[in-house]
Amino acid sequence: MKQELEAPMLEQKPKKEKATAISKPKMAETKEKTLSDLPGVGAATVEKLELAGFADLMSVAVATPGELIDASGVGEGVAKKMIAAARTMLDMGFSSGLDLLEKRKNVMKISTGTEELDKLLGGGVETNGITEAYGQYGSGKSQIAHVLAVRAQLPVEEGGTGGQVIFIDTESTFRPERIVEIAKGCNIDPDEALKNIKVARAYNSDHQMLLAEKVEDIIKKEGLSIKLVIVDSLTAHFRAEFVGRGTLADRQQKLNKHMHILAKLADTQNLCVYVTNQVMAKPDQFFGDPTEAIGGNIVGHNSQTRLYIRKGKKGTRVAKLVDSPYLPDGEAGFVITQSGIEDI
Ligand code: GTP
Ligand code: MG
Repeated sequence: MKQELEAPMLEQKPKKEKATAISKPKMAETKEKTLSDLPGVGAATVEKLELAGFADLMSVAVATPGELIDASGVGEGVAKKMIAAARTMLDMGFSSGLDLLEKRKNVMKISTGTEELDKLLGGGVETNGITEAYGQYGSGKSQIAHVLAVRAQLPVEEGGTGGQVIFIDTESTFRPERIVEIAKGCNIDPDEALKNIKVARAYNSDHQMLLAEKVEDIIKKEGLSIKLVIVDSLTAHFRAEFVGRGTLADRQQKLNKHMHILAKLADTQNLCVYVTNQVMAKPDQFFGDPTEAIGGNIVGHNSQTRLYIRKGKKGTRVAKLVDSPYLPDGEAGFVITQSGIEDI
């Protein structure tokens, strides 16, 4: 039994290299331009821009001159030149349908370990996009996060990606003991499973955003093959820190930026981002569902796949696919068990 447990992880090693080999040459070809390549922008201005949240050329390209003036103190002429230059430098080009189809071929799907839920998701949770699970407390969002964190490590033939996982934990919900149980359930050596999950505790929303920004660095510097990034919970800090009506716009703006960073990460690294989100009561809703996801449109529009999870009868859970761009809406039932989640 012990040997059986260890075998799949050992065999997996070459596969990991293969996975990085797909994305690395592409990265090397495009030498990325940065803020310091902009005309009239020195180190001091770069620092000011970065402090104000202008992290890359794209953020400058889509900014207004006023925003840049406020952020860095440059004059209007320079600000306009910066924007124009950022727009030219950026490859804002179009991809052909064929290129996109080719890209879709590299998409991997992480099986949830249940047939019904996999079917609902068109095979599993996809790389190259954000999957959001929202629902009330105790509905199973964090449990699915743990299941994915283990199953992503399985070889591709077994419904995984053969890659590693980053878990950004905002509410101290990560449970290593749970990883051990789930790993045993799918014949992965529990120690290996734990080693392949890099956990970072985020203490507030700024810290959470910073951690998300660092993922790309970690992948490059440490040569990791990260295929799944979990943010559990995406919205808890934002919800706690921005209270009251006046702060809603600020919160949404920050959340939007955070989602953009995650979306870019999913796209450029061909990895899966799984985020969890709570719901709040809609007091003015008399028909239909009386709850809605925190962060509303900002989170929803940035997630390719949205799952609404609720408690069903007799301890079961029901996942509903919401607004998928290409999958039919539908529902899948599952139960949370010792080894993860299972079909009813
Ligand atoms: P919030 O983070 O509070 O919004 O909830 P959540 O949606 O993340 O809920 P979570 O995924 O933490 O689900 C909690 C539920 O999972 C519990 O109510 C238990 O029913 C179930 N659960 C948690 N751990 C285990 C376990 O080890 N075995 C079994 N069978 N069930 C578990
Ligand atoms: Mg949770």
